[in-house]
Amino acid sequence: MDDKKIFVTSPLLPKLEEFIPYLQKIWDSKWLTNDGQFHQQLEKELAEYLGVPYISLFTNGTLPLIAALQAERIVGEVITTPYSFVATTHSIWWNGIKPVFVDIDPVTCNLDPSKIEAAITSKTTAIMPVHVYGQPCDTKAIQDIADKYGLKVIYDAAHAFGVKVNGESILTSGDMSTLSFHATKVYNTIEGGALVMKDEKTKQRIDYLKNFGFSGETTIVAPGINAKMDEVRAAYGILNLKQVDDAIAWRKKIADQYRDTLREIDGITFFEDLEGVSHNYAYFPIFIDAEKFGMTRDELYFAMKEQNVIGRRYFYPLISTFSTYRTLPSAAPGNLPVAIRKANEVICLPMSMDLIQEDVQRVLDLIKSLNIRK
Ligand SMILES: Cc1ncc(COP(=O)(O)O)c(C=O)c1O
Repeated sequence: MDDKKIFVTSPLLPKLEEFIPYLQKIWDSKWLTNDGQFHQQLEKELAEYLGVPYISLFTNGTLPLIAALQAERIVGEVITTPYSFVATTHSIWWNGIKPVFVDIDPVTCNLDPSKIEAAITSKTTAIMPVHVYGQPCDTKAIQDIADKYGLKVIYDAAHAFGVKVNGESILTSGDMSTLSFHATKVYNTIEGGALVMKDEKTKQRIDYLKNFGFSGETTIVAPGINAKMDEVRAAYGILNLKQVDDAIAWRKKIADQYRDTLREIDGITFFEDLEGVSHNYAYFPIFIDAEKFGMTRDELYFAMKEQNVIGRRYFYPLISTFSTYRTLPSAAPGNLPVAIRKANEVICLPMSMDLIQEDVQRVLDLIKSLNIRK
């Protein structure tokens, strides 16, 4: 057995020697947080890089979800996907809103627009879809439904950093989109996140909300929260932004290497690149058809783990199965057959800037050998 552990991810780090001069500036100025120089610079650079009109930095990717719901004054019920990280539904719950789960599309693993209308009630005020794995949702179909019923759309775009459709940022879809810059993401600021919005007035409101609601020294305009990003992480983010294109290009190479071999194996499916979409290769999920492959997803997952190849079962278990949510009528398994199947089939294979071709080959050889031994 190879002793070297191959992890599902590894963080993109700026060079330490390049980070130190930034730290020196922060130490000299003693301006550590509250809309400092690096915070302002990163917001400007990110808006340009992502091709979005306005962006507000946050201290993680969960608080912008909570703040977006607050800013849009969402109440009642919000339609969302169970096939995501728990933060999506938690943000709805934290606002005292009832999440309503709708099943996903078997091809994209995103909210299935054809099932949304049946879940709309007189209490529905918004839809919160997720571009899971950075795969674009059917934004047009979702917007058409939202317009028809007068609903807001807040995208959890935590996985969709830099994703474009026909040259346009996916982050400009809906009313607002959130990002996560957690260490595990394509682009990270250690912990961090952002909210993307369309107009200056909304940005202003969000900037107040993430700073306790302060609009001036003594004026509070809303019951805000503390969700600001500090100067150290903003500086780190400025440096990581310079290398994110290289990181995405490297990830594409890994994805292509995986696909070339996995295509030959019966019972494994994965995402191909879509025409007109600039992907970010945030994850490399594979889906195991146990009958065709000859092993269940869990058998493969644990057999890989035994050989020091550590995948992750994102997104298993489904959010709708957690104790807080499982008694909701929309969490009934009969309502979510596709999401249940996908959650039971998925393994995300290792994907990061640190992986070399030999590592990827080792993962592939292992999957092939386990498949032969079945
Ligand atoms: C889909 C999704 N939404 C929200 C979050 C929350 O982001 P954070 O961990 O930065 O709070 C994450 C990630 O971790 C995520 O994967």
